[in-house]
Amino acid sequence: MLKSAQTVIDIQPDAVSVAGKVGHWLLELALKAKDRFTVCLSGGSTPKLLYQSLADKKIAEQMPWEIIHWFWGDERFVSKKDPLSNYHMVEEAMLSKVRIPAKNIHAINTEVKEPVLAAAMYEKELKSYYGSDRLDPEKPLFDVTLLGLGPDGHTASLFPGTDVLSERLAWASAVVGVKPEARITLTYPVLESSQAVAFLVTGREKREIAKQVITGASELPAARVRPTGTLFWFFDEAAYPRI
Ligand code: 6PG
Repeated sequence: MLKSAQTVIDIQPDAVSVAGKVGHWLLELALKAKDRFTVCLSGGSTPKLLYQSLADKKIAEQMPWEIIHWFWGDERFVSKKDPLSNYHMVEEAMLSKVRIPAKNIHAINTEVKEPVLAAAMYEKELKSYYGSDRLDPEKPLFDVTLLGLGPDGHTASLFPGTDVLSERLAWASAVVGVKPEARITLTYPVLESSQAVAFLVTGREKREIAKQVITGASELPAARVRPTGTLFWFFDEAAYPRI
């Protein structure tokens, strides 16, 4: 692992090894937690292997499921049963395989009329869970925020050129018109309110965009994430941009 003051880069041989490494990393952190451990889940396809590894016996039988709360960093504004749904992906990979108290699963409710309403409702849920309307840098909302990296440098549903990139007050926003399906995304201040923000990036197709992002030179959305705590990059060999 390469370390700087606030950034840790870990490189594994392949995507399965990344999933195993991050799975054990999360297990270690969760076992150290006292009464609550809060995770903000990433959508997309990359983290599916991780969620499957968390549900695998080797980790699952040690995981303190009863104290772990699961939130989503973004969601597609589709039914929970839709294959596009990030909830659906996590449910298939993990939630359906392990015993997690229903109260610990904080899905973004997309069964409402408008994406803006879904965002407002989720903001209310986040604030109620956190216990305040104001994020305190000394008291991060999440223990771990998991993020992916899109081919255009987006992360969560923080897409290049969208207004939500400058949103500093709302905790969750609707993002409409970028993708065929509307999105709900947490905003930077909330994603960053975390002891650890971990990007999971695998596959040769991510190497170039990853290089632009980790050199910090770019204004790409993923490059603008400034966590309260430590920033982790978990790469496989194929995606790691030899800088
Ligand atoms: C989503 C994610 C999104 C994702 C990246 C990478 O809802 O799709 O939040 O930000 O992490 O697009 O996606 P892949 O892991 O599928 O490459």
